Amino acid sequence: MDKRRKLVIDCDPGHDDIMAIMNALAHPELFEILGYTTVCGNNYVDKVTSNLCKVLTAIGVDGTVAVGYDAPMVLAPDPQPAAHGESGLDGPVLPEAKVRPVAEHAVEFLHDVCSQAAAKGEKITIVALAPLTNIALFLKTWPELAGAIEEITLMGGSRGKGNILPRAEFNLYADPHAAKLVFASGVPIVMSDIEICVECGTEHALIDGLKGQGKVQDLAHDILQFFSQYGRRRGLSYSPVFDLVPVMHMMHPELFTEKKCRVLIETEGAYTRGMTIVEEAKEEAEANVTLVEHCVDNEAYNRYFMENLKVLDEMVKEKR
Ligand code: BDR
Ligand code: CA
Repeated sequence: MDKRRKLVIDCDPGHDDIMAIMNALAHPELFEILGYTTVCGNNYVDKVTSNLCKVLTAIGVDGTVAVGYDAPMVLAPDPQPAAHGESGLDGPVLPEAKVRPVAEHAVEFLHDVCSQAAAKGEKITIVALAPLTNIALFLKTWPELAGAIEEITLMGGSRGKGNILPRAEFNLYADPHAAKLVFASGVPIVMSDIEICVECGTEHALIDGLKGQGKVQDLAHDILQFFSQYGRRRGLSYSPVFDLVPVMHMMHPELFTEKKCRVLIETEGAYTRGMTIVEEAKEEAEANVTLVEHCVDNEAYNRYFMENLKVLDEMVKEKR
């Protein structure tokens, strides 16, 4: 029996989204990537979809890409050129895309893969690296398919820090109504928040060392050089690569501690939109989230990160 986890990666590439995707692609013995769904987040959906298709083309891998919503459920889009540049993925020079999105909408794609999994008595995992609009609207439309989702492992939220507002993380801030719906859905959620992403931060010297090592590592270098500008300008020696954490947590759970929590989402606050209220659950039944709490070995985490990029380089070399 095929024991690999079946993944749908919901994303808005996005520099760190691409690092998560490269790391997952490096391990086909662990993950079967059923497809990618894109959504408005860091930038509008046409831009982030085009970024993803160009990167897959640059690496030389194919994949099913289904385009999702171009706006959050209630609020207006809020692109982030300061973090990701005007294109949503500034930094690398990318080829014209040969990978093309399918005609199916992202939620229809989710419907199809969940229906097929349910029919076979299997489950899928959603890796959510962006605002939760696609996932919320899928669950709202077909709640009967929620049981086909083993878990949603997501990057989002915080225990107190903020990266878009003083107390709010971008993905949940961008579509708090979607987040509220997903967190109340009863689907098991694994949450990697700002705090754990900072603990897993990558030293800039490691990023600098990727140059000249191969096609994938060169591309990762150019992507991460841009993404780490913020930290470098502030004199930090490392940068968080947020979206990588959920993928690394699936690959190496031994590197992390976890805690069962009750997480609520603020949707209305003028200063707290998208803020997560995270409380340790007193009883298991009260918890709606497994919080990825601490990284016990930053050095090992980042060693695996660098190794995975090397592995993907070898894989795509062999394919040619
Ligand atoms: C999240 O916001 C996005 O811009 C990143 O790709 C990541 O998913 C970090 O808050
Ligand atoms: Ca993202």
